[in-house]
Amino acid sequence: MGSEKLAAASLSHRVGHGQDAHALVVGEPLVIGGVLIPSPRGADAHSDGDVLLHALADALLSAYALGDIGQHFPPSDPTFKGLASSAIVEHALQLVKSTDDAAQLLNLSAVITLDTPKLGGRRADVQAAVASLVGLDQGSVGITFKTSEGLAPDHVQASVIVLLRTTL
Ligand code: C5P
Ligand code: MG
Repeated sequence: MGSEKLAAASLSHRVGHGQDAHALVVGEPLVIGGVLIPSPRGADAHSDGDVLLHALADALLSAYALGDIGQHFPPSDPTFKGLASSAIVEHALQLVKSTDDAAQLLNLSAVITLDTPKLGGRRADVQAAVASLVGLDQGSVGITFKTSEGLAPDHVQASVIVLLRTTL
C-alpha cells in the first residue's frame, strides 16, 4: 500500500477504550450490560452501577476525544440522578455519530472482572442486550468474563474497547 493510501486508511478508523469499577455491597442490584444478575451483592453507586455500560460510554467518547461520562453527566448534578446507563450510552453514541465524519460503531470488546457470581451462563443475554442497545449484531459484541483470582473479591470491573469507522 502506498503511503497516501495508508494515511487515508489510518484516518478512517478510530479506537476507544473505557474502564469502570464499583465496590460490591449487600442489597444493591448487580446490573451488567443492562441485564439484572441475581446476586446478594451489587454495585455501590449513585446510578445503577452498570460497569459495562459506563465503560462502553467512556470508550465511545474517548474514540473522539470527547471527554468522559463524568464530564457529560456530573454526579453532582441532580438532573442525572438515577439516569439509566442505557441513556448514557445512547447519548455517547449519538455524539460520535454526529461528528464531522459520522462515525459508525463496528464492534466492541469487553472484559468483566468479577469473582462471584459466575456469569458465563448469562453471556448470550448480556451480548444480546448490549448489541440491541448500540445497533450491532451479537457477533460484534465480544464479552469476556474473568475472576480476579481472589485479588479483588469485593469489586466489579469492566474494560471496553470500541472500533469505529468514518462513513464520510
Ligand atoms: O478468571 P478465570 O480465568 O479464572 O475465569 C475462568 C472462566 O470463568 C472463564 O471461562 C469465564 O467465562 C468464567 N467466569 C464466569 N463468571 C465470572 C468470572 C469468570 O463465568 N464471574
Ligand atoms: Mg485465569
